[in-house]
Amino acid sequence: MYSQQEQRTLFDLSKAFLNGGGALEKESPDEQANKLRQVIEYHEYRYYILNDPVISDAEYDQLYKMLEKLEEEHPELVTPDSPTQRVSSDLSSDFPSVEHLTPMLSLANSYNEEDLVEFDAQIKRYLNLPEDQDIEYAVEPKFDGGSIAVVYEDNRLARAATRGNGTVGEEMTNNARAIRSIPLRADFAALGIYKAELRGEVLIRKDVFKKINEQREEDGLSLFANARNTATGGLRMKDPQEVAKRGLEAFIYTLGYAVDKDGNDVLSRFSTHEESLNRLNEIGFKVPVEGEERTVCKNIKAALGFCHAWQDKRDDYPYEIDGMVVKVNSRELQERAGATSHHPRWAIAFKFKAKQATSRLLRVEYQVGKIGSITPVAKIEPVQLAGVTVSSVSLHNEDFIKSKDLRIGDMVLVERAGDVIPYIVKALDELRDGSEQPIEFPKYCPINDTDEPVELVRIEGEAAWRCPVCVCGAQNLQKIIFHVSKNAMDVEGLGKSIVERFYELGWLRTIADVYRLDYDKVAELEGFGEKSAANLKESVEKAKQNPIHRLLHSLSIHHLGQKVSKIIAAGINHVLDLKGWDMEKFTHIKDIGPVVAENIIAFFSNEHNIKLLEEMEALGVNLKQTEDDRPKAASGDGPFAGKTILFTGTLQTLSRKEAQAKAEAAGARNISAISGNLDILVVGEKAGSKLKKAQALGTVEIMTEEEFLERVG
Ligand code: IVH
Repeated sequence: MYSQQEQRTLFDLSKAFLNGGGALEKESPDEQANKLRQVIEYHEYRYYILNDPVISDAEYDQLYKMLEKLEEEHPELVTPDSPTQRVSSDLSSDFPSVEHLTPMLSLANSYNEEDLVEFDAQIKRYLNLPEDQDIEYAVEPKFDGGSIAVVYEDNRLARAATRGNGTVGEEMTNNARAIRSIPLRADFAALGIYKAELRGEVLIRKDVFKKINEQREEDGLSLFANARNTATGGLRMKDPQEVAKRGLEAFIYTLGYAVDKDGNDVLSRFSTHEESLNRLNEIGFKVPVEGEERTVCKNIKAALGFCHAWQDKRDDYPYEIDGMVVKVNSRELQERAGATSHHPRWAIAFKFKAKQATSRLLRVEYQVGKIGSITPVAKIEPVQLAGVTVSSVSLHNEDFIKSKDLRIGDMVLVERAGDVIPYIVKALDELRDGSEQPIEFPKYCPINDTDEPVELVRIEGEAAWRCPVCVCGAQNLQKIIFHVSKNAMDVEGLGKSIVERFYELGWLRTIADVYRLDYDKVAELEGFGEKSAANLKESVEKAKQNPIHRLLHSLSIHHLGQKVSKIIAAGINHVLDLKGWDMEKFTHIKDIGPVVAENIIAFFSNEHNIKLLEEMEALGVNLKQTEDDRPKAASGDGPFAGKTILFTGTLQTLSRKEAQAKAEAAGARNISAISGNLDILVVGEKAGSKLKKAQALGTVEIMTEEEFLERVG
């Protein structure tokens, strides 16, 4: 329908209008109106037909309002086919067309308090009501899905259609039947209605949407951009069976038409909007819940309060909503106010701040984490998203960039959804002009502050590229913080903020620097003094003597946790023994998986790391195994070698901790629950359900504390 070139031109033109483009103001009103119509038509096509808008709703509204204003100032310019002269269209040729019983209009939009107050004032003027008289408003969510009109005749669902262009919609009765919340029969007779047309919105719950996408990802299908597209797309599927699977729901928000058997209008039986929704609810329709999602406010100020409250909790609501709708509650006043060709005068949407916006991807920067993972971050032209200025968006990893085919210079659609983290939905590739540059994920560490380039590595099965070397600043700071932390080398008095301070001062560049601090200088630092410096020195000296399993854990080797460090430590005499280890060697050690083994091999085959450890040893850090320190548990001997064990009940001579340590020393592994994996259960006094369970299993060796002590010797 539109060529790529045309799309680009129309998009640029839209932005020029939105940015108050000076060049456009020089053009004649006729020319401006013409261009505005073209861009609006284009965006309507993107939104309604393709289900794939390239600008935010707010931006569209802004363009629409510009055209309205221009036409108001120059009525002679209004053409019958101007977008302002009809409601927008979502017609395509896939479904038969049907005429709605009364036109399905759109809504006027407002974005702030002034707009709402002005709306209230305008109605009063229109209805000749005194300025200080309160009008009662019904306020409810503005659901962000696809609108639908359902017709009931003689208590039966007779027809369903999308909004289409407002006058004519697409008939999709069979699809509507697949939506559980649209009753196939309803007791309209009880309301004195023979034929009715109800309007509502078809939606999908956010969690259902998430599950659908998760499944699609698993099946290797493309992902839906958002819940709205999933709902409107679902409504237009060819196969009602498939529609049923999507879990669509329909909220009814208006009774648009109602006649009795003789064709007399019976809408006036419902004195308020509130009442009509309540009655529809009573006969089985899903409507926004009164008192929670919808309420009646005594005046516009109260209505505004309700809108604001919902703006704050929109993310907690299970469905996507993009605003609230404020409706004059009295049906009589509604009728008196009437409608323009575009929207009823008695209702207005209070739109929440946009969660999506388009912006240009300017460049990609890279950040590094403790274990060296390189995270690409897109720098975009700053845009407002749900009230926050966003200029950086994480791109997660190389695969993300590839799957979205993002390029430098691309216009991208950015969304800030429920959670606060913004993300890139997609690149608007139809707007490319060929100058966009592919994003080359770096081969070498982009943060590295040494002369020698350091090649990044990617471990099989993981998404991130990593810098394997501890020579680059940002990564090293994180490594130093971890190295001295409680579970690692446990250097007391060297917490995160002090490490950061020393790092800023240039005193700490690598973990080896921890062991060559100049304590005279430390003593001179504000907040330190002789005593603190001496204490720090003492902690560092103590840390130097740590058993090597602590040192291993402190090296920030990915997946090398405390437990695995102990197992490895038990099998070596010197940390640098690991230099010569290969995969084969690791396969003999129980509980060491191939992933951590690879990481250890990679670390110890890197000469920077070896140098670092040698430096540390020269500075007095212990790299040697001492028999006292050798963790006892692991390497496969002892009376309980390879067994799992669990203690239950009160032990008489040992504390639980001591017992577990003894068990470990005897080669057993402590586990915490009874299962088929358990080999030994040691029972103390008052052993309860665990003993029973173990007995029931019949595969567990059960022993007393005494027997246990005898066995471990
Ligand atoms: S009233 C005659 N109420 O918003 C009044 N519309 O921008 C027109 N919408 O196409 C509709 N929630 O699909 C109304 N509570 C609500 C709504 C709602 C969502 C949609 C509707 C309409 C669009 C107008």
